[in-house]
Parts: sequence; C-alpha cells; structure tokens
Amino acid sequence: MKHASTPLSEGSAVTVCEVGPRDGFQSEKTFIPTARKIEIVDAMFAAGVRNVQVTSFVSPRAVPQLSDATEVIAGIRRPAGSVVSALIPNLKGAERAAAAGVDAVHTVVSASATHNLKNVNRSVDQSLIEFEVVTALMHREGIAVEGGIATAFGCPFEGVVPPERVAQIARRYQELGAKRVSLGDTTGMATPASVRAAIRAIRAEAPEVEICLHFHNTRGVGLACVMTGLAEGVSYYDASIGGLGGCPFAAGATGNICTEDLVYLLQESGFETGIDLEGITDVARMTQDTLGRDLPGQILKAGPRLRKFDPQMTATARG
Ligand code: COA
Ligand code: ZN
Repeated sequence: MKHASTPLSEGSAVTVCEVGPRDGFQSEKTFIPTARKIEIVDAMFAAGVRNVQVTSFVSPRAVPQLSDATEVIAGIRRPAGSVVSALIPNLKGAERAAAAGVDAVHTVVSASATHNLKNVNRSVDQSLIEFEVVTALMHREGIAVEGGIATAFGCPFEGVVPPERVAQIARRYQELGAKRVSLGDTTGMATPASVRAAIRAIRAEAPEVEICLHFHNTRGVGLACVMTGLAEGVSYYDASIGGLGGCPFAAGATGNICTEDLVYLLQESGFETGIDLEGITDVARMTQDTLGRDLPGQILKAGPRLRKFDPQMTATARG
C-alpha cells in the first residue's frame, strides 16, 4: 500500500488532463462547428498536452453540443503517446466510444443519489451495476477505464458527501479493474481539508487505484485544492482551457480550474507537465475567440510572471 501522505517531490511529472472539449463545451448553447472543435483539440496536442477528454457519448437530447462525438474523434490528429478519452454514462455510450476508437473512457456516477438521478436518470447502484458490463467490455477491447465519481466533495442538492461514501465507490471501481478513479468536484465544494480526507479514505479503502482530482473553481479555492493533492502525492489533475466548464445538470455549476493557470502553478513549483505555457495560453485565446466572450482564466489576462511591460506605456504617479 502506498504511503498515505508522501508529498510529490519537486521535479516529478504531473499529468494535466485537458477536459475543456467535454466539460467546457457541454454547456455551451451555441453549437461549435465540428471542424473548430477538431482544430482546438489539435492545438492542445501541439502545445504538448497528451491527455484530452475530447467529448462525451451521452444522449444527444441531454447534451446537443456533443452530438458530433464520433466525428470529432475521427477528425483529430493523435500524436504518439496521446490518450484520447471520452465521458460515458452507460453501456450504449461505451459501445459508441469503442466504435469511435477512444483510448480510454471516463464513466460517470455521482456519490449523491439526487445528482445521479438528475444527471443520468438512474440510482447509484444501477449505474455501478451497468459499469460491471461496461468495464468488462472495455477491457476486452483494450480500452482503459477511469472511474468518475461526481459530487465527490459535496452535492448541490444534498449537501455533505462523506469521504467514506466516495471511498466505497472507489473500492467498487477497483474491484472492476478501473485504472484510476477521478474525484469530481462538480460544483466547486472541495476545500483543502475535504480533499485530504477523501484521498486518505480512498487510499485506505482502495489502495490499488490511482487518483485523479477534478476541481471546479466555483469558490476560488481550486488551485489551493491542487496544492493539497500534491502534498498528498497525487500526480494527476483535470483542468479546462480558459477555465471553461460546468455540469448542466447541477445547480450553481461553474468552470473547472483553468488549464493554463494550473500549468503555470505546476511549472513555477518545479513540476514537469510537458505542456508549453505560451502554447496552451494561445489555445485558450483561440477558444475565447471561438466562444466570443471573456473566459475566467487569469494567465490569459495577465500573461506569465516575467512578462515585461514597456515603462513608456504606464503613467508615473507624478503625471
Ligand atoms: N448515447 C446516445 N444515445 C443514448 C445514449 C448514449 N450514451 N444512451 C441512451 N441513448 C438514447 C437511447 O437510445 C434512447 O433513444 P430513443 O429515444 O431514440 O430510443 C434515449 O436516449 C433514451 O434512452 P434511455 O436509456 O431511456 O436514457 P434516459 O432517458 O434514461 O437517459 C442517459 C439516460 C444517461 C442517456 C442521459 O441521462 C444522459 O445522456 N446523461 C448524460 C448527462 C451528461 O452528459 N452530464 C454531464 C456530464 S457529468
Ligand atoms: Zn467537471
């Protein structure tokens, strides 16, 4: 069993999984042309991102924006070492994702009954029973399974979600052979203390699974939660370009932690992400232009720390 709280040492590799094309685009009302989605994902790869949650295979009635999932996956250029994943809610989604040629699927079940019902119209147990068939099928096809647990740090309808509940679901995923579990902070309710508690509960209950942390920055503490994850030895984080994101079926959902802000934090803290900060910030700008409105990302506005301004362009206090 891994030690519960060995911090990740400086110089270690940290994986940043880009989820903007899924978590970000899913709540955009205006349809983003398929060709533009493909261009954005290709630009993410060009900036050094290797893990991208490209889309989801869900009901096109639930999320019309991602009804072109198969076409997007067929259109992107996948560099060596890239992992193309998609979110799936059920067996039908898994079959569609496999046919489209994904490398990995992200199954989704919520730790709270009410959100699971709103999101996927079934009980938590029904979802988990369906995932037995899903994981068996995916493993036969050589597709990795990441077990997603939404509302892992609190539910907008039910409130507190105990870490033991999250750990029980992680254990079910471990028994199914999932490679990793992803703790989804659906409406930004995580705090450093609750992140630590959830990680430790999972390590005690399901020590074999790797942990991914998926934070939303709804209450401004997303990157503080990442620092806690690093201190607890977690090396895999989801983030969304420009800070886009949010589940359409959760009250009060807002954007994920922002990819380029996270890359900046990790780079300045001595971790290796393989992602070029300038390149990924360009992708954020491209996404912002596509959507036609300002995105919440801060590096996008301020630039990197050592950005130099022309003194001539700034007034002095003496006028
Ligand atoms: N992909 C495409 N179509 C699907 C599908 C999938 N994964 N799963 C079901 N469908 C279709 C069925 O074929 C059926 O079509 P029909 O009416 O033409 O016969 C219809 O959807 C209803 O199927 P049913 O199994 O009764 O689904 P449901 O109405 O109970 O909805 C989900 C269940 C899971 C499909 C739906 O709630 C969903 O897609 N949720 C995803 C929500 C999401 O993406 N949230 C954000 C990410 S966390
Ligand atoms: Zn999310």
